[in-house]
Amino acid sequence: MRLSLRFLLPLGIALAGIAYAVIPLVDRLALQWFVRDLDIRAALITNATQESLAGLVRDEAGEQKLSRFLDRIVTDERVYAVGLCASDGTRLYATASFPRTIDCSSSVLDDDRHRVLQIPTGPVHLSVNSITWEGEALGKLIILHDMSFVERRSADTKEYLFYLFASIAAVVALITVVIAEISWRGWISSIKALISGETLLRAPGAVRARPPRSLQPIARDLRALVQDLEMQRRSRDESQTTWGPEALRRILREDLKGDEVLIVSNREPYIHVRRNGNVVEVQRPASGLVTALEPVMRACSGTWIAHGAGSADRDTVDARDHVMVPPERPSYRIRRVWLTREEEQGYYYGFSNEGMWPLCHIAHTRPVFRNEDWQEYRRVNQRFADVVVQEAQTEDPIVLVQDYHFALLPRMIREQLPRATIITFWHIPWPNFESFGILPWREEILDGMLGSSILGFHTQSHCNNFFDTVDRFLEARVDRETFSVSYRGDPTEVRRYPISIEWPPAALRNQASVAECRRAVRERLSLPAATRLAVGVDRLDYTKGILERFRAVERLLELEPRWIGQFAFVQVAAPSRSTIDEYQNFEARVRELADAINVRFGQPGYKPIILLIEHHDVNQVYELYRAAELCYVSSLHDGMNLVAKEFIAARDDDQGVLILSQFTGAARELADALIVNPYDIDQAAAALHLALDMTPEEQRVRMRSMRSLVQEFNVYRWAGRMLMDAARMRHRGRVLSRTQGVEARTMIR
Ligand code: G6P
Repeated sequence: MRLSLRFLLPLGIALAGIAYAVIPLVDRLALQWFVRDLDIRAALITNATQESLAGLVRDEAGEQKLSRFLDRIVTDERVYAVGLCASDGTRLYATASFPRTIDCSSSVLDDDRHRVLQIPTGPVHLSVNSITWEGEALGKLIILHDMSFVERRSADTKEYLFYLFASIAAVVALITVVIAEISWRGWISSIKALISGETLLRAPGAVRARPPRSLQPIARDLRALVQDLEMQRRSRDESQTTWGPEALRRILREDLKGDEVLIVSNREPYIHVRRNGNVVEVQRPASGLVTALEPVMRACSGTWIAHGAGSADRDTVDARDHVMVPPERPSYRIRRVWLTREEEQGYYYGFSNEGMWPLCHIAHTRPVFRNEDWQEYRRVNQRFADVVVQEAQTEDPIVLVQDYHFALLPRMIREQLPRATIITFWHIPWPNFESFGILPWREEILDGMLGSSILGFHTQSHCNNFFDTVDRFLEARVDRETFSVSYRGDPTEVRRYPISIEWPPAALRNQASVAECRRAVRERLSLPAATRLAVGVDRLDYTKGILERFRAVERLLELEPRWIGQFAFVQVAAPSRSTIDEYQNFEARVRELADAINVRFGQPGYKPIILLIEHHDVNQVYELYRAAELCYVSSLHDGMNLVAKEFIAARDDDQGVLILSQFTGAARELADALIVNPYDIDQAAAALHLALDMTPEEQRVRMRSMRSLVQEFNVYRWAGRMLMDAARMRHRGRVLSRTQGVEARTMIR
């Protein structure tokens, strides 16, 4: 309203100014028109009466007739008075109303002119008209027209004009107020939307949420501001928190108000297997995913949905296929999903591990895509989506979907639980779009993933590859400024969340001193106490660069024979996916190469490569880490690689050297490792040599710096950042649903 007034006041002043200038002008013009009319009228009267008057003037006895004639003219309502002067200046006759002040000799009658005179009764129009007869001037007819009607009309005109301007002003004001009110409301609601964040989100239904053109610059600035504030808050919250189980619990309690958390992964964190007849054993699988998520789940409670793959899994669940874990201190539950042999073959071995796994790892193993596998993959994803819906106790749970086994799951969950917050984490690399483009179902996979609210990768380059891929293959809006993709009207935030391990690692609690571990391990492996030991711990997988690693050991012994007999490389290789041909061939090649090197450089009682292809539990692995001089992680391509971080966590003596492939996500963080290209065998051999010769002091400096980094950026922080982002998103969704109604609730997911 104030805005309208501010607009109306100048408008009123402008209109009054115009009226002030226009009304006298119109008045003057009207007067001129009337005077001209009266001139014409007087001329007309003169012309019409010329002949009669001439006769009457010349007729000396016609004085009476003349007076009657002139008196008749005055009967016209406009004619005020008439007078007739002879050419010698004497008055022949004047009607009764003729002003005495006007005399026939008066100068006002000197020429045939008209003028406006003011007489006591008011203004009159005086016109002097010559009367002639056959060229002889007989006198002058003076006609006075009453002009009071002009004044009356002028006053009327002024009044009309005044009302006209007043009405124009009123109409313009009304239109202005209405327009101002409408656009003001539009502005206000747009600003409200901006402030509440609706149009700042950009991603949600891009077209619907776009601010009006006039507000776009403000929206841009506000968006940048909100993002800055969110980033600042995020980094402040993040850096001020001591990241541990309690911090996660606090986020769940305070930021997420105790919302329900469900995790879905293919691999379960605890596998029940039957051994030696009837004994049921609990195994922890060799999986980076499990290593990272298990401590998170212990802190958050909730439900972990996974494939029940263990031989005794069915015997250990309750009627609803639940089992509480960890066995020693139950704090969350696993919901096991049973798969038939065909389902496991098609979905897990086939599409996931013969298709997606080699597709995403640039390790030069060709992916195999079979339509039957794809069909199973879809069916199993749908089964897991149905289980999520069954397990969810609320309509908006937080669902953490893990890895390439479940690319279709986010969309399938979204369809049944539109208000769920779905966080998908991709534990393996995302390739460039050319590599990904060979996948026959690339659009379906991308569509499935974009059902997520948040999509996480380990590194920014994986996020960038994902953006490029979406840009290339989908009709989606990719916003690299806000790290989001808008697809089918729904937003997905794509973020970098480098995964890590728990700190301090639980496995360290059971460990003996480093000296004791060194002694015990050497004794178990029948190695002399002074042997320098290197360790490699992996699943037996062609992406891990185990062959390249052995070649580097071979090259070291070639180049530096002084290490022969003094140095051994212990390779722990957990059997993995062993029904797949590629994995079987790989195992054979690994064994063959280890044997060849051992034959070449071995001595009685000494083998440079100790290959242990068997499952090791976490305590055994930590003991090995602590016993070794160095750990070599030589992955040809790896999302993160947690072995590198575990080795660091295990070395509370600040000793030991990490040699790390540049093709791991971990290499982006652990700059104090010796970073190598595992394909460059000479370079890797030189790194082994350098590590074996590195002074304890240099080892300490490097190890300390890496330890403080892993301590600070531990897995609780990884999970905490995702949960905080989920909380922020849910909060924003709630605010919007309050201001915008139900529709908005489904927009912010
Ligand atoms: C990688 C994958 C995980 C998987 C693990 C073990 O780390 O990212 O999803 O669990 O390998 O593989 P497996 O096939 O035995 O579960």
